[in-house]
Amino acid sequence: MSNADFHLPQRGLGSTARRDRWWVQPLTVFCVLSGFIVYATWAALQGKHYFAHANGEHYLSPFYSPLLYGAEHEPYWIAQGVPKWWPSFLPFSPAMLILIGPGLMRFTCYYYRGAYYKAFWADPLSCAVGEPRKGYRGENSFPLIMQNVHRYVFYPAAAFVMVLLYDGYKALWFTDAEGTHFGVGVGSIVLIMNALLLGGYTFGCHCARHQIGGFLNSLAKRPIRSKCYACVNALNKRHMYWAWVSLVWVALTDLYVRLLSMGYITDFRIIF
Ligand code: FES
Repeated sequence: MSNADFHLPQRGLGSTARRDRWWVQPLTVFCVLSGFIVYATWAALQGKHYFAHANGEHYLSPFYSPLLYGAEHEPYWIAQGVPKWWPSFLPFSPAMLILIGPGLMRFTCYYYRGAYYKAFWADPLSCAVGEPRKGYRGENSFPLIMQNVHRYVFYPAAAFVMVLLYDGYKALWFTDAEGTHFGVGVGSIVLIMNALLLGGYTFGCHCARHQIGGFLNSLAKRPIRSKCYACVNALNKRHMYWAWVSLVWVALTDLYVRLLSMGYITDFRIIF
């Protein structure tokens, strides 16, 4: 039976015989995702207070990493200031050059798709709850077929995790009058946790499972790959939890660096 032949039972939007609080989950998803999108957009457009260094620390906000273009004292990768090719009528923020990568990873993630289809489009609202359409088309036509780009977005997302791990390492080094030395501040832990949580989310991706062993007929003959596959599977089982914890943590990490950089808070040093 083709998708075109399949018709859902007629039911008004939101009508259901369910007695449980089925609406709590989509409502929570709607609130948390909306809050994150508003905050991340605001933070990305600021173009300042993304690097805390006033007291010798090297904390870079994950929304701005890798920092391709930055100021003189910042750990930029390509050049100082605004890129020459940037249109003069547009305000510039370094975050605009990189957020498309992690943003696409989340937007096309198999888990998030299921969550935001329910929360934002009410399509479907929930199991056995009336929805706005009468037929089911799946994701096999434009525009939703574009979601298949997810399998390619995984690779840059994995590279981003490596960059964030490097930022976490840099956050363990502090500069003072005597030079640069090892130390641990609250910010070091915040940045390292951020990289680990994003790693748990990214490497638990369904695409990672496929790349590591999902296409093989027998994993038993490949012990190393088999072990890696087991690790990815363990992460994948909790993909939803990694998705939410890493989402909230990355916003909190930016907020921590921002408040430090603005001088509203001071970084507590655990090891000097
Ligand atoms: S399925 Fe969620 S990140 Fe790939």
